[in-house]
Amino acid sequence: MLAPIIIAIDGYSSCGKSTLAIQLAERLSYKYVDTGAMYRALTLYLLKNQIDIHHPDMVAEALSNIQISFGLNEITQKQYTILNGENVEDEIRINPRVASAVSVVSAQSEVRKFLVNQQQAFGATKGIVMDGRDIGTVVFPNAELKLFITAEPMIRAQRRLDELQEKGQHTTLEEVLANLQKRDLMDTTRADSPLLKAADAIEIDNSYLSRQDQLNKVLQLVKNLNQNAQ
Ligand code: DC
Repeated sequence: MLAPIIIAIDGYSSCGKSTLAIQLAERLSYKYVDTGAMYRALTLYLLKNQIDIHHPDMVAEALSNIQISFGLNEITQKQYTILNGENVEDEIRINPRVASAVSVVSAQSEVRKFLVNQQQAFGATKGIVMDGRDIGTVVFPNAELKLFITAEPMIRAQRRLDELQEKGQHTTLEEVLANLQKRDLMDTTRADSPLLKAADAIEIDNSYLSRQDQLNKVLQLVKNLNQNAQ
């Protein structure tokens, strides 16, 4: 039996980080934590309670009222996000107000401290896959395996467009690409915990990799780690 490790996955929006993280957690029987969902749920709370997201003091004051956890749908076996006892999974994904406010909220230091503490507690017993923007750099700088996922912007935009169209939303490739580029810029230029590749992270460009090939590649990395540790 392989000793449980921490797998930190970082990368740009719409690179397939969550897909890979879910596949890995399933194969290794690990916990999976989607940190983007935590930033989204926190943002939803602020919007619902009419807290001005442009006032970091007001946002900081609200944090003690926010509880975020994850549940498992027994039928679909899919994880969902819980905000103060309520399943908010669909809302945090489709509410456009959340999508546009989350970058402003996730740039605030008090918010990051609050969520990073919880994320570190989730990883205390290892056996976890966590994805986000600062997992290998801030949340788990000592993670045994760090991955940095990239893909060509046009390919990410096309994947995102397909996803939105599947959900019945109408938009264009140009619009999706512009939105991705805006988010990339905000994620990489914010002062606190900008998205960057940790020095010891392994970069995977999945532009031309199938999901299965990507998974196999990472499972091999996990195996190698364990062999080296023996
Ligand atoms: O991965 P996502 O698109 O669901 O993330 C939503 C937002 O949260 C995105 O604007 C980046 C931010 N985020 C972050 O700042 N740090 C993380 N660890 C995860 C997400």
